Amino acid sequence: MSAIMMDGKALAADIKRDVKAKALSMEHPPTLALVLVGDDPASVTYVTHKRRDCADCGIRTVDYTLGAETTQEELLGLVAELNGRRDVDGILVQLPLPSHIHERTILEAIDPKKDVDAFHPFNVGRLMQFVPCYVPCTPAGIMALLRRYDIDPAGKECVIINRSNIVGKPLAMLLLQAGGTVTVCHSRTADLARRCRQADILIAAAGKAGLVTADMIKPGAVVVGVSMARDDAGHICGDFGPAVGDKASYLTPPTGGVGPMTRAMLMVNVLKAAENR
Ligand code: GUN
Repeated sequence: MSAIMMDGKALAADIKRDVKAKALSMEHPPTLALVLVGDDPASVTYVTHKRRDCADCGIRTVDYTLGAETTQEELLGLVAELNGRRDVDGILVQLPLPSHIHERTILEAIDPKKDVDAFHPFNVGRLMQFVPCYVPCTPAGIMALLRRYDIDPAGKECVIINRSNIVGKPLAMLLLQAGGTVTVCHSRTADLARRCRQADILIAAAGKAGLVTADMIKPGAVVVGVSMARDDAGHICGDFGPAVGDKASYLTPPTGGVGPMTRAMLMVNVLKAAENR
């Protein structure tokens, strides 16, 4: 058996097309404030991609590229200003922040109504209570991908390898809400292989090339990879070893799976912010 590849790139393009149509129909364009502090190369790349996605979708961006020496007070001042601006619908402060700035203090200062990353405790709490709220982009993208392939988590064993605030914890809530039985694994989990073998839906975001081998896959499982880990030869293979695709029924490709979905869901959240303004 060879797994069906889940095409996140195509679905993301469809979602972005829908966002664009709605954005262009609005009297005032949805607007995202993109805040970058310092010059971390990965962050610069991420912000560049987000700016481009916004342009593709008819979303206006207002850019703040601040020096690494920016103080916490200065950044809090900017967040307060953006919270108060009626022409700004969403605020995204790119992480990580320089070490002298307390990340949580900044994230908690963002108005929850403009919190398109969904990192504010208000939105995290609502997600936990299954109340409508912004949903973090990677978990939202994974759920949209499952829906596109008519994969219903209800009654299924769902195993997540990741316990972060950005991926593992919110994804656990979404799968639970969708009726799945959820196990969250992490670096301290005993007998990861046994737990993976129970999974009807396995989602790996460990960042360790080849961590999940074919013998850890239940035949016919749906297997979703989030990481961009590289093998010894430098090829992007995610967390999966070779032949995982021979056991799974559905599998995400190493690129063009969850990555484009994450980016598309940010556009969905900005549109939602604008619709609720
Ligand atoms: N850094 C890496 N991923 C993210 C993200 O999703 N949002 C923000 N704000 N920073 C990040």
